[in-house]
Amino acid sequence: MLASKGNQVVGIDVNPEAVRLLNEGHAPVEEPGLQDLVSGSQDRLSATTELGAAGEADVSILLVPTPSDERGAFSNEHVLAAVDEVGRGLRGRDGYQILVVASTVMPGSCDAEIRTALEGASGRRVGETLGLCYSPEFIALGSVIRDMLEPDMVLIGESDSRAGDVLERLYAGICENEPPFRRMSLVNAELTKIAVNTYVTMKISYANTLADMCERLPGADVEVVTDALGLDTRIGAKYLRGAISYGGPCFPRDNKAFGVFARDLGAEPFLSEATDAVNLAQTDRLAGVVQSRLKVGNAVGILGLAYKPDTGVIDESPGVALARLLGSAGYEVRVYDPVATEAALHALGGLAEGCSSAAELVAQSDVTVIATPWPEFAELPLDALERKGRSSVVIDCWRLLPERASCGAVEIVRLGRALEEASPV
Ligand SMILES: NC(=O)c1ccc[n+]([C@@H]2O[C@H](COP(=O)([O-])OP(=O)(O)OC[C@H]3O[C@@H](n4cnc5c(N)ncnc54)[C@H](O)[C@@H]3O)[C@@H](O)[C@H]2O)c1
Repeated sequence: MLASKGNQVVGIDVNPEAVRLLNEGHAPVEEPGLQDLVSGSQDRLSATTELGAAGEADVSILLVPTPSDERGAFSNEHVLAAVDEVGRGLRGRDGYQILVVASTVMPGSCDAEIRTALEGASGRRVGETLGLCYSPEFIALGSVIRDMLEPDMVLIGESDSRAGDVLERLYAGICENEPPFRRMSLVNAELTKIAVNTYVTMKISYANTLADMCERLPGADVEVVTDALGLDTRIGAKYLRGAISYGGPCFPRDNKAFGVFARDLGAEPFLSEATDAVNLAQTDRLAGVVQSRLKVGNAVGILGLAYKPDTGVIDESPGVALARLLGSAGYEVRVYDPVATEAALHALGGLAEGCSSAAELVAQSDVTVIATPWPEFAELPLDALERKGRSSVVIDCWRLLPERASCGAVEIVRLGRALEEASPV
């Protein structure tokens, strides 16, 4: 993004393969639109495994992993290792430079151990010729580029206003929608980042609770209810689509870390802990619907293993969780995803068999579950299935399939709507 907007950019990674790919003009990860940006920025983009190279940059942005520790807090282990090497690269340099932490960290990290590590390694004091910022991305995999081009806001935590000015100028040059900038202390920005994600997960769990209620309430339809709810400007329509659990590398972890942090402060994290409990219960809720439709010897097919469409990431994916639960219970499970089948089969370790297309999976399954709302799943070949006359069930978690009455041999179960009485297994 930065290179495509005219900046000279060096990508630095400990993974030599990522560095090699970028230097050869290839995007090192799958993300819609990324290859075009890389191809169009060749003269401004290079990569190296040499972390000290950051010392030559006016602005260094640190976006290394912050894995959860055993309590659910974020570990700064990789951040501190990188700050140490980047800091040594900054030692003895002239001119004004800033380090921007973009990884998700526990509030208080930047002003404490990160600042100490940076000053120790660089031999320079933050606030003089060196600035420290915390500026996380509010991006979702699959829409990273659009989210960066048109953010709702840009959040900047700053050690001092000079550092924030430099970063605001840099990011204002990327954004195409003139977003509001919110500049604040480092700790306020760190808290805002995890507070945003925790609020969004709370909304998802709320909508999923409504979906669960609607399934038990004759005549009810969660979509009708949340559509009206979302029109209330105090609530808003986004992330209010009652369906199944949230997953991915960020939402579950950020929500847990928020709870751990609140507890450490002596505050009660009732909301984030309830959000997490509701989310965990979603796999059982879905498995209950599946099992109510299964007969002895039936095969279950799961469509969608990525945690959301347009990504191959399977971290905490609802489809994989369901496959694991049903496979462990001894059911015959088949799986398919446009991108993530191989990764999921590896993670499932023999609990499921892969299919090469959605059509193949549907043809081989007695009960099919659409777990990820990939657009292609809205066009399942149900007519062909019906013509075969073999009775089967499709559980449509996201109400993707076109409206039509369940008829003939194929029963469509739309989650979030009143479910008929389950037939006995
Ligand atoms: N993925 C998202 O959508 C997202 C969104 C917002 C925030 N975040 C946060 O951003 C951070 C990074 O997440 P990610 O999903 O990009 O992780 P990732 O694991 O996909 O990528 C991190 C990259 O850092 C490299 N790396 C690891 N240690 C390093 C080191 N010491 N020096 C240099 N490079 C190193 C890895 O090789 C990898 O290429 C995390 O704190 C995460 O919580 C992620």
